[in-house]
Amino acid sequence: MNIAGILGTGSALPKKVVTNFDLEKLVDTSDQWITERTGIKERRQAAPNETTSTLCIQAAHKALAMANLSPTDLDMIICSTISPDMPLPSTAAFIQRGLGARTVLAFDLAAACSGFLFGMTVAEQFIRTGKARYVLVVGAELLSRFLDYQDRATCVLFGDGVAAGIIGPASPPSGILATEMHTDGAFAEHLYIPAGGAAKPASCETVRAREHYIKMRGNELFKVAVRSLEEVSRRVLEKANVKPEDLDLFIPHQANQRITDAVRERLGVAPEKVYSNICRIGNTSSASIPLCLDECVRGGRIKKGDLILMSAFGAGVTWGSALIRW
Ligand SMILES: CC(C)(COP(=O)(O)OP(=O)(O)OC[C@H]1O[C@@H](n2cnc3c(N)ncnc32)[C@H](O)[C@@H]1OP(=O)(O)O)[C@@H](O)C(=O)NCCC(=O)NCCS
Repeated sequence: MNIAGILGTGSALPKKVVTNFDLEKLVDTSDQWITERTGIKERRQAAPNETTSTLCIQAAHKALAMANLSPTDLDMIICSTISPDMPLPSTAAFIQRGLGARTVLAFDLAAACSGFLFGMTVAEQFIRTGKARYVLVVGAELLSRFLDYQDRATCVLFGDGVAAGIIGPASPPSGILATEMHTDGAFAEHLYIPAGGAAKPASCETVRAREHYIKMRGNELFKVAVRSLEEVSRRVLEKANVKPEDLDLFIPHQANQRITDAVRERLGVAPEKVYSNICRIGNTSSASIPLCLDECVRGGRIKKGDLILMSAFGAGVTWGSALIRW
């Protein structure tokens, strides 16, 4: 069995910055409320000519360059997104075409904020069994296209962004050490887009009722998120026989600074070992963890041999955790 690891990372952020003050002009909110309740100060918003796949292609090129690979080396492409270019075909198909990759197995994965970790786990299995050598996993969201800018409870939270990882054979002791992923549909309607699918196809009524936008029961999700993130993080650490104090870096999904702080405290990880970029980026769902990872790799925050725990929670609800040695 081969050991899999992350060989390269890359990201692509739209240039346009939307500040809390910009949002004050759209909905009844304030910079103070958003900062105190979420930790977010600003987020990015894609330009009209940008799509999920165009940003994915930019991020993928950077990740491939870091891994010293070319698009034709890829054996598989997984695009984790809940904001695809279009319902059909997959965004992964546009990425394959845009990169000039071979006609490999390429597909989209919908696990919201846990999607990058879900994708990495799938990639790991293919690499372990020798079915694939190099897999591109992209976490990609243009959530601004699905936000209701009349709903202050959601439009202040989310942002656009894309980040990619190349998963491939690793040399021990580096590699993915332990993972655990979960889904519980009992909370499916806590965070969802009601219309536009087979259950409620698009119609004039659904558009009028603003049902193509993200709806969220944030307050209820908050408690589930903290509990799930703590539990799954603990279990993954136990599987690998690693204590929280042995970690070099903890990258939680960036949903809310208060969630990050609560999980960190419950796990007993030192504050300086937790990475957070939510103030600049907001919640970018499946791009959140790989964006943090890419910033840490390129910013020199991660060095060879570091133990890194990544834990995510999102719509579905989905949650999961992965421990890697860089
Ligand atoms: C969404 C979230 C930031 C809201 O924070 P909160 O402290 O729970 O706030 P509540 O939802 O209880 O709302 C408190 C009040 O603030 C108001 N409020 C909500 N959004 C607001 C905003 N942007 N500006 C000002 N007031 C706002 C609410 O209307 C409510 O007012 P009321 O008391 O008069 O009814 C928080 O619940 C959260 O982060 N939830 C988890 C999100 C998550 O994990 N998502 C899944 C992963 S992506």
